[in-house]
Amino acid sequence: MRHLIDITDLELTEIDGLLDLADDMIAHRERYADSQRGRILGTLFFEPSTRTRLSFESAMLTMGGNVLGFASADSSSTAKGESLQDTIRTVSCYCDIIAMRHPKEGAPVAASLCSDVPIINAGDGGHNHPTQTLTDLMTIRREMGRLDSLTIGLCGDLKFGRTVHSLISAMSRYPNVRFVMISPPELRVPEYLTEMLRAKNIEFCEVEQMESVLPELDILYMTRVQRERFFNEADYVRLKDTYVLTPEKLRLADSRLRVMHPLPRVNEISSKVDSDPRAVYFTQVRNGRYVRMALITRLLEVCE
Ligand code: CP
Repeated sequence: MRHLIDITDLELTEIDGLLDLADDMIAHRERYADSQRGRILGTLFFEPSTRTRLSFESAMLTMGGNVLGFASADSSSTAKGESLQDTIRTVSCYCDIIAMRHPKEGAPVAASLCSDVPIINAGDGGHNHPTQTLTDLMTIRREMGRLDSLTIGLCGDLKFGRTVHSLISAMSRYPNVRFVMISPPELRVPEYLTEMLRAKNIEFCEVEQMESVLPELDILYMTRVQRERFFNEADYVRLKDTYVLTPEKLRLADSRLRVMHPLPRVNEISSKVDSDPRAVYFTQVRNGRYVRMALITRLLEVCE
């Protein structure tokens, strides 16, 4: 049984293969229209989602498969006290593959230990979000033509932002990648990631100001301050608008810069930036469907 819990569960050659397949799915969508007929995807979302849940469902429907699931813990028997293990053992009787999001770090690993079908981590607490990273890698490769030799600025809530953690894990495996981490001191990237970067001799710096580093970036990856992970509202209110990207600030950046964001955004990117050709966050949304089609296809092939 093959699961996707952490982005490092995939070899780089497997990631390349998924991105190639996703590109082909965009170019020749009709070829894949029936490829998952008769198969069922379960989407178990114990936390809110728009893009991840709907892109997984759209991916399976686009390939002729079916979907079942729930969009909140409240609408499942979790609300009656059922354990995660019993929920997974039950749902794996009804479907061929499960994408799950859960507020607790490590929940997808626990699920994988009692599942009869592949488990895909669709976000676990403030920990990881590997399928957002596949979406991000696909977008970077399509926009920049490469995944190596890039300076990547990560800005905002780097402490709780699970998409940032998975993206650092992934991009640190490509040669000549440099990270510029832009955050207030309270929201710095977790130490286990900076220790990993030091151990691998990967160049990175941690700064508080966005403006001074903008000219040196190839990618600016903006993130939302994760209100739901804060212990007190006052800290969230104090930090939430630390960074707001505007057209004026973007004038400092190179014409080849790409602005990314996993979305949802709150205030951190002005809507006036949306019309800038360097803004690719809605391209990420579109790519998310195709890379999830590719992932479902590969994980189900292993089960055949
Ligand atoms: N990027 C992302 O995970 O978005 P949703 O929370 O809407 O799924």
